[in-house]
Amino acid sequence: MKIKFAKVFALMLAAMMVMAVAACGGQTPAPAAPAAPAESAPAAEAAPAPEAPAASDDGPKKVGISMPTKSLQRWNQDGSNMEAAFKAAGYDVDLQYGGENEVPVQISQIENMIAGGCDVLVIAAIDGDSMTEVLATAKDRGIPVISYDRLIMNTDAVTYYATFDNWKVGTFQGQFIVDELDLNNAEGPFNIEFFTGDPGDNNINFFFGGAMEILQPFLDSGKLVTPSGQTEKSVVATQGWSTENAQSRMENLISSNNYGPGRTTLHAVMCSNDSTAQGVTNALVNAGYTAENFPIITGQDCDIVSVKNMLAGLQSMSVFKDTRTLASKVVEMVEAILTGSEPPINDTTTYNNGTGIIPSFLCEPVVGTAANHRELLVDSGYYTEAELQS
Ligand code: BGC
Repeated sequence: MKIKFAKVFALMLAAMMVMAVAACGGQTPAPAAPAAPAESAPAAEAAPAPEAPAASDDGPKKVGISMPTKSLQRWNQDGSNMEAAFKAAGYDVDLQYGGENEVPVQISQIENMIAGGCDVLVIAAIDGDSMTEVLATAKDRGIPVISYDRLIMNTDAVTYYATFDNWKVGTFQGQFIVDELDLNNAEGPFNIEFFTGDPGDNNINFFFGGAMEILQPFLDSGKLVTPSGQTEKSVVATQGWSTENAQSRMENLISSNNYGPGRTTLHAVMCSNDSTAQGVTNALVNAGYTAENFPIITGQDCDIVSVKNMLAGLQSMSVFKDTRTLASKVVEMVEAILTGSEPPINDTTTYNNGTGIIPSFLCEPVVGTAANHRELLVDSGYYTEAELQS
């Protein structure tokens, strides 16, 4: 049984490694570190690879997977992709979603995973700062923790971090606006508003930081203008990354700045992801904008709703992050942890969670538009053509 499991596992792992290397495009250069909340934390050397935990028994190992919510398409995909990949590799899986982004629910699910004998935890935290206590228990029990997509802050229990190049996501969004408005040549000024995500998600420091690295010079020169005056990350944050919250803030911006067709022109809205972009789009459609005069709207995730909006001319771009790739990287990490071998790591400088640098693997994001959606999303098997039809 043991030998058979090992053989099957080795075959699966080899297949997944080929997929992941092809999809991730190998090593990614580390981006400049943004001003993350952890910046005042002492710089630390990357932690050495942990010892393989002592095998508890000969049966399959159990992986606890904690995702933040079922209410957003991407986390359902992340969860089911990982569950399938781990099961195919011979693991038992305990997959849980934290209600509707409910921190206490997520914490009690993780407590149950620890009590239920999980050998490894893979966690996408709702609030990156909420895990210190529960993960202290995991550490005491020698259970390694992989921080998934979002960095878990202020706990030394995090073993590795698997994510996308989040800074690059932001620079793609900023650069898209620069190119579409031809900011290097056009005279301007152009009106822009900003929306980022939940303040408890460390990723917004990277998304917003990356976008602002590109756009700030144009704000400074006056070529870009934000009529609302709202350009601070804390002010443009969206609680829970919620579409409804983004929509109501956009509605307020429309009325207080008199935006609309035939009124003050709004040229662009920088949104850090698709759920916020969808709220902005709803508000703009309600204000009378159509595909013919729609402002440039950025996004991230290539959610089905947003891909449909792109095809209808109601969102300009999204950033595609292939969750299949991330899932297969995490399977590789878990295997390395459990066998005491070298995990896939391509960044040891960028992500400090307040206790030191967390060794990370950053997958590559890609710009998605109506023009390349078929090749990127349909030909790759991510969606079927039918799923993208309105
Ligand atoms: C993820 C994005 C996602 C957002 C909202 C972020 O941490 O990186 O892909 O759109 O959370 O769930």
